Amino acid sequence: MRLDRHRVAGMTSAPSAPAMRYDLVVVGTDGSATARPVEEVAIAVARAAGGEVLFVSAFQGDDGRHSAEQAVEEALARALAAGGKARTEVAEGEPAAVIMEVADRSDAKLVVVDDAGMGERRRLRLGGTADRISHSMPCDTLIVRTASAERSEDRVAYRKVLLATDGSSTATHAVRVGTELARGMSAAIEIVHVKDEVMGAVIMKEAVALLGEEEVPGHPLSGDVGKGIAEAARGFDLVVVGNKGMRGSVRIHMGKVPDQVSHLAPCDVLIVNTVDRSLDDLLPSEGAVVTIDGKKVAAYREADGAVVLLSPRCRHRGCTVGWNEVAGTWDCPCHGSRYDAHGKVFQGPATGDLGAAGSEERS
Ligand code: FES
Repeated sequence: MRLDRHRVAGMTSAPSAPAMRYDLVVVGTDGSATARPVEEVAIAVARAAGGEVLFVSAFQGDDGRHSAEQAVEEALARALAAGGKARTEVAEGEPAAVIMEVADRSDAKLVVVDDAGMGERRRLRLGGTADRISHSMPCDTLIVRTASAERSEDRVAYRKVLLATDGSSTATHAVRVGTELARGMSAAIEIVHVKDEVMGAVIMKEAVALLGEEEVPGHPLSGDVGKGIAEAARGFDLVVVGNKGMRGSVRIHMGKVPDQVSHLAPCDVLIVNTVDRSLDDLLPSEGAVVTIDGKKVAAYREADGAVVLLSPRCRHRGCTVGWNEVAGTWDCPCHGSRYDAHGKVFQGPATGDLGAAGSEERS
């Protein structure tokens, strides 16, 4: 792989201050040794953004409540000792469902998870907590490689960050978010970009201008994009990708590229939620959660072009439903409730239909 450097003449602006995007970072913990580096990364990211950590622990049955409370209290003490802001929540249920429910209800901007069940050999065995959350959450997901040989015990902040872009507006959004985080941690930034050399030069020029730097090292890619980004991430602490497929259908909620990178990259992976649909994007017989006047709405376009607007709040416990493109249904990532395209429930635990847009009723 070739490494090039890109300059923008006259670009001398100072790095911008870290933005407040990650004002609330949710992280699950069970108090185990594996959870510790994940907690520490969450604390470091929240501190870099001037935000707060919400430690969440799940339990099943009264016997587990005490250890769940102990896990979050110990994490809270460590966060406060590190100078961070934090709070805690425990809830009964399956861990991934509890984390998603709390993050959704809290309007968290980032969920931090460990990489249990991921890795190259397990790439085809999806369904672990990290996969469920990264595929379902309407916010960013940071996957922490707990077993990485490059993760030293005293390093929680990122020193080298790789940003992936294909020049699209959604990838540019991921670059912007990754830059904010890298700047907050005083990390060095490099860019990996897809497409040919001519397009690559244009993409790099735009990215360098966006960063406000004079020069940024760039890594042009060819061939399998997902694998290429994962390989380019060797030697970095973090790689940042958007959750929309960098190539392929924009209708896929999380494309092949971010999925491959999340499984194959040897370092931590930040998947930035770049999916931002509008009513105009909807094709006939397609649905999506869109934002109208600052509010999330589950919108479905009928075959004849008419649009049905529903509340995206699951009638079980209020998680945000997502559009299942294959089945043409609204599915809830938290506990599996499903609704048809018009919001009629056909699979529990929810017992009521999705309300009209603007209603927030729960069953
Ligand atoms: S919140 Fe439980 S199934 Fe939706």
